[in-house]
Amino acid sequence: MDSFEHRDGQYYAEGVALEALAREVGTPAYVYSASTIRGHVARLREAFADLDPLICYAAKANGNLAVLTLIAEAGCGFDIVSGGELARVLRAGADPGKIVFSGVGKTAAEMEAAILAGVLVFNVESEPELELLGEVATRVGRPAGVAIRVNPDVDPKTHRYITTGKRENKFGVDLARGEVLARRAIAHKQLRLRGIQCHIGSQITEVTPYAQAVERTRDLALRLKPDAPDLEYLDMGGGYGIYYRAADAPALVDYAAAVRPIVKGCGLRLVLEPGRLIVGNAGVMLTTVLYNKQSGAKRFVIVDAGMNDLIRPSLYEGYHRIWPTRGPPPPPLGSEGGEAPADIVGPVCESADFLAIDRPLPPVEPGDVLAVMSVGAYAAVMGSNYNDRLRPPEVLVDGDRFAVVRERESIEDLMRMERPAAAYRTLGASSGETVS
Ligand code: LLP
Repeated sequence: MDSFEHRDGQYYAEGVALEALAREVGTPAYVYSASTIRGHVARLREAFADLDPLICYAAKANGNLAVLTLIAEAGCGFDIVSGGELARVLRAGADPGKIVFSGVGKTAAEMEAAILAGVLVFNVESEPELELLGEVATRVGRPAGVAIRVNPDVDPKTHRYITTGKRENKFGVDLARGEVLARRAIAHKQLRLRGIQCHIGSQITEVTPYAQAVERTRDLALRLKPDAPDLEYLDMGGGYGIYYRAADAPALVDYAAAVRPIVKGCGLRLVLEPGRLIVGNAGVMLTTVLYNKQSGAKRFVIVDAGMNDLIRPSLYEGYHRIWPTRGPPPPPLGSEGGEAPADIVGPVCESADFLAIDRPLPPVEPGDVLAVMSVGAYAAVMGSNYNDRLRPPEVLVDGDRFAVVRERESIEDLMRMERPAAAYRTLGASSGETVS
């Protein structure tokens, strides 16, 4: 479901015409729909209603403060993976008691900040991490909630770069070691074992792997429960697929139906960590055609957005629908239409800089604005300044109004953090003592 619609010959985000918006804020620009984001949270709640899950939105998918605020206002908690994300979600109004802290490489400083903020649990992924967490909790004199992240060795059947639940992936610990770690947490004075967690991958379009992973995770939790008075959460992670190319992602009710028989009545509250599902189809990227170029039989459309603004096609062979914001309506979801195919490429000096390869596209002229669909997740957050390109603005649309919720960067922003090498110093000298 999304609120981007082609009507009367042009694309709209809710009540805002995208071409006119592009003229006003410039391109490239990311445009998010508030009602789509709210709608996804509501539909997720509805699908899982009888299980009353704790929904912890994965902030890594889209961390814009205005987006996070919308999601916090909808009552969600957050899944975070760094001290930066912790600060960000707190600034957006997150309830610390609904924050889960994931990631294989948390530092002592990040642990301390999160304990002091009062996060619900750390999703612990290794023995040394558990040990360090125990030390930090002891030092700051506050208990830390723990969920053990297990790797259930299930193939989620998604792209190999976003598979996390197989034995050869760096994430989690196997079930046997998970039990050992959990018992260590139970025995520790300053640690509270509150959950068992798994996350098997991202953009998963089959429900069966979830059922397998959740069942294995639940069985471990139930084995531990008699000895773990604080154990109350069963966290099945995120990864729910969305439509990019066709209507091929399962309906939310199908995910719920797969796990309901495993979870219902087991005495543990379900935690969900959706990222893409909430924001993925709630964003488009607007980009202007710079040039048409024909090279033999090959048609190139060169646009002003590149792999630094949307890396998913280059990195994961990600597919994003692309269509002019004005003109004929796009082909229905799942078909590409019969127009002449083009490689839609950006200005970055890399052959991997493309938004689409051999994609049917109506004739376009320099100055035309294209909409790149389904870029609400893992687009702006994965952006870079490569080739000294300015990061685009982010715009949030709500009804027939919009707000620029991140400005376009300026040339000055690009160099703000840099210094001339005028003040060399020797190791150990304070930054004030310069050595000439
Ligand atoms: N929980 C954990 C522990 C995660 O590692 C992730 C995503 C999520 C939840 C949220 O997954 P989601 O519901 O969004 O699939 N950049 C890649 C996706 C990387 C996902 C990383 N972890 C992409 O653009 O496809």
